[in-house]
Amino acid sequence: MSLVELSQATKTYMGPPSTEVLSRCDLTVEKGEFVTIRGRSGSGKSTLLNAIGLLTELDGGSYNLQGVDTRSMRETERDRLRGEVFGFVFQSFHLDSTRTALANVISGMRFQHAIPRRTRKATAVAALERVGLFHRSTWLAGRLSGGEKQRVALARAISSHPSILLCDEPTGNLDSDTARDILGLIRSIHRDGATVVLVSHEPAELVGDCVVYEMVRGRLVRES
Ligand SMILES: Nc1ncnc2c1ncn2[C@@H]1O[C@H](COP(=O)(O)OP(=O)(O)OP(=O)(O)O)[C@@H](O)[C@H]1O
Ligand SMILES: [Mg+2]
Repeated sequence: MSLVELSQATKTYMGPPSTEVLSRCDLTVEKGEFVTIRGRSGSGKSTLLNAIGLLTELDGGSYNLQGVDTRSMRETERDRLRGEVFGFVFQSFHLDSTRTALANVISGMRFQHAIPRRTRKATAVAALERVGLFHRSTWLAGRLSGGEKQRVALARAISSHPSILLCDEPTGNLDSDTARDILGLIRSIHRDGATVVLVSHEPAELVGDCVVYEMVRGRLVRES
């Protein structure tokens, strides 16, 4: 059974003008895979990632997640899976700059009913240690450098031990050395057992061994 199985996935934004952002995309992600999606701005990469992460609904085709048809799911079931299966990392970090690194990671667990409240702090501390940022736990997120912010976002994403880590241009706002560090960290999280889907423009040699897809105006083309 594949973790993610999209078949002929289609998404159209009703306009005017109406745009078919995803056009019959086929994508299979197996457990333990590292998948990279490349493609020009506006080609539909974020839309695809959001569809995988149940943040947006498809309007055509099918999407089986862990063998279950997501299109027949109730919203409560989608909410539960979104929290339990996925960890999200975005280009713009999406941290609360007025709260500490630790508080940001803890708040990422507020919908994680599987993680008891009393263990959340320790879980968050462990996640910050995992990304090498324990020493910044009590710093306000707004005071951190871009690379440190992305480490906090990664800590928040992995704190619930998600099966699938979805990263949308996580190095897009970072200089090349910091980008290398963050990609190295994502690779080590992958080695620990996470399945990774990464949207990135970074050169293939920097990303390392992975399955590569190219998004071309809503069509997904497998490169390797
Ligand atoms: N909520 C929305 N309503 C209408 N159109 C949208 C919406 N979200 C995205 N689009 C359009 O869908 C297309 C694909 O957007 P998407 O964000 O998926 O592209 P992308 O490949 O991630 O681009 P980038 O590399 O710039 O992040 C764009 O033309 C965008 O304007
Ligand atoms: Mg995008």
